[in-house]
Amino acid sequence: MATEAQPMRHVEEWDDFVQTRYKEGKSEDEFRNYKGDANPGVTEFYRLNHRFQTLDFALAKKAEFTPLARRKMGVWEALEFLNTLIDDSDPDTDLSQIEHLLQTSEAIRKDGHPRWFVLAGLMHDLGKVLCLFGEPQWAVVGDTFPVGCAWSEQIVFPEFFAANPDAAVPELQTKYGIYSPNCGLDKVHLSWGHDEYIYTVLKNYLPEPALYMLRYHSFYAAHRHGAYDYLMTDHDREMFDWVRKFNPYDLYSKGRERPVLAEVKPYYEDLIGEYLPAELSW
Ligand SMILES: [Fe+2]
Ligand SMILES: [Fe+2]
Repeated sequence: MATEAQPMRHVEEWDDFVQTRYKEGKSEDEFRNYKGDANPGVTEFYRLNHRFQTLDFALAKKAEFTPLARRKMGVWEALEFLNTLIDDSDPDTDLSQIEHLLQTSEAIRKDGHPRWFVLAGLMHDLGKVLCLFGEPQWAVVGDTFPVGCAWSEQIVFPEFFAANPDAAVPELQTKYGIYSPNCGLDKVHLSWGHDEYIYTVLKNYLPEPALYMLRYHSFYAAHRHGAYDYLMTDHDREMFDWVRKFNPYDLYSKGRERPVLAEVKPYYEDLIGEYLPAELSW
C-alpha cells in the first residue's frame, strides 16, 4: 500500500518505470520526456530519494550494513524471503521476484555467457531484501548516483536535488567534491540501495565483472548516458562494458517465457554451489 513515506504501491513500480524509460527503440528525444512515463507515486518516490540520499546518509547506511551481521541465509532462502516482499494478490504485479531473477538469468544463460554472468543475473536484485529489513523504498531502489560531489543533469528528476541538504554545502557541489579526477569508482560513494548491498554480500565470491554488474546496475546516468566519466579509471571503463552487457537482460527479459523452477533448479543448485557457500551473511 502506498503511503507518504512509501509512495509507490510496491518497489517494482520503479523497475517498471525504468523499463518504460528505456523501452527498446526509443530515441534520445523520446527518452528526455521520461516524466510522462512516471506515475505520481514514482515521481514522489524520486522526490524523497533525491532529497534524503545525502553523503552522510550513504556513509551511515554503509556503516550499518557492511558488517553483514543481520542474518544468515542461503540463496534459496533469500529468494523465498524476497518473494514475500510483494503481495501475490496485487493484480499489477504479474511477476514474482524469483521470476524476474530467473528470467534474467535464463536469458543470460541461453545466450551462452559465462556461468558467473548467469549467477549475477540470478542474484542482482536480492539486495531488495532491504525492504524487508524495514528500509524505506527510497533507500532500496531508484537510479543510483554519486554523493559528495555535484549531481549530473543526466540523473532523472535532477530538479529534486534542490531539497537535498548537500545542495547547501559548497564543498559537495563542485565537479569533484570530496573526490579527485579519475580516482576510480571504488572510492566514490553512491546513493545507498540494493546494488551496493548485494555487492557487499557477494564481494568475496564472484569475479570482478560480475561484481561491477551487481554494484552499478542502477547507475543509469553512467552506464546509459556516460555521466561521471571524470571519476572513472580506464579499468572502470573496461568493466562498465560488462555492466552495459548486463543491463538489457535486466530490462528486457520480462515477458519472455516463464521458467519452471523445478526444471531449472538442478542447474542453479550446481551453479550456486560452484561459487557460493551454503549460507551467506546478510
Ligand atoms: Fe535492481
Ligand atoms: Fe532487476
